[in-house]
Amino acid sequence: MDLEDTAARLGVPVSEVERVQRLAGDRPSAPLPAKAGAPAILERLAVSPDDAAEVMEGWPDADSPLWTPELRWLLDRSIALVQADLGGHQWLSPGPELPRERGPAWRHLYVYAYLALTGVVTRYHREHDIADAVSWTTLADIGRNLAVDRRMQREGWPVMQSWLTLHARGAVYELGRLQHHRGGTAISLHIPDSGPMTPEAVTASLDEARAFFPRHFPGEHYTAFSCGSWLLDPQLQEYLPADSNIIRFQQRFELEPYEEPEGLDADVEVRRFVFRTLSTPLDRLPRDTLLRRAVVDHLRAGRHWHWRSGQFPI
Ligand SMILES: CC(C)(COP(=O)(O)OP(=O)(O)OC[C@H]1O[C@@H](n2cnc3c(N)ncnc32)[C@H](O)[C@@H]1OP(=O)(O)O)[C@@H](O)C(=O)NCCC(=O)NCCS
Repeated sequence: MDLEDTAARLGVPVSEVERVQRLAGDRPSAPLPAKAGAPAILERLAVSPDDAAEVMEGWPDADSPLWTPELRWLLDRSIALVQADLGGHQWLSPGPELPRERGPAWRHLYVYAYLALTGVVTRYHREHDIADAVSWTTLADIGRNLAVDRRMQREGWPVMQSWLTLHARGAVYELGRLQHHRGGTAISLHIPDSGPMTPEAVTASLDEARAFFPRHFPGEHYTAFSCGSWLLDPQLQEYLPADSNIIRFQQRFELEPYEEPEGLDADVEVRRFVFRTLSTPLDRLPRDTLLRRAVVDHLRAGRHWHWRSGQFPI
């Protein structure tokens, strides 16, 4: 196969195609579920009717004219790439960021990969004696992410396509209000966009995790919960009341000293999570909540938000 030609046809850098080829090699890839059963699976994965209709429209049928040989190659190798790291817990890109405006096959290529991987990871969950309800709640983050991406006029997907490989490899579990991410000696916390995070809901989720990990991953030993987020920026205390959910969440953590994170712009991340747009100019962003007003005023004053990390003992 000519990788340069494949990259050109996919509209992506050749280094990205080489990476997929290198990591996936000729390993086997799991098949997609049968098309007839797909609508029910999409519903279980909380994919909205709009998004499900697009996914069905672009389905990679053997004779679909939407699926060029390059797209079929990338889908197959991307599944193999993620599958090869089943049980892994680092961030992993499943492949290049695609020109998604070219159509539904391009737009949802990694969703098809995720559907194939759903079969793989639910087997992995069963081997770890994880309840079906936890599996499906966890995997349904794809529906939530597709909906957010739609709200974001599709600006959100490049990060999501890597984020969702954590779920697809058994690294992340949604237990109550929070997502808990295995690996190392700390369980890393993520906060899905699912309404307010009350201290009670956070405490209940932490308690669930304290029981879940020793039971389902007895070989792993966790001594702390950790988090890296814009939510831990102490500058938020200048704007939000001490009894707000965000400040009360912050109070649980011992922060690490501030370091400029590599390859991550906290101002962009704050815009992502607070406004769900990356491209709207500051003066056109809505000011309808306390936090939204704070974010805009802070940036307009020439200041910046910080991505902070912290932890607390289990
Ligand atoms: C984390 C999150 C659940 C906190 O929301 P919360 O529990 O309502 O937080 P607080 O009680 O501290 O909110 C204080 C104020 O900020 C507002 N606010 C909080 N998060 C907001 C958000 N993401 N967008 C807009 N306004 C927000 C609240 O509405 C409230 O303002 P109001 O009194 O004018 O209504 C929410 O920000 C969210 O869903 N974020 C998206 C996911 C995310 O950021 N994850 C972390 C990724 S690193």
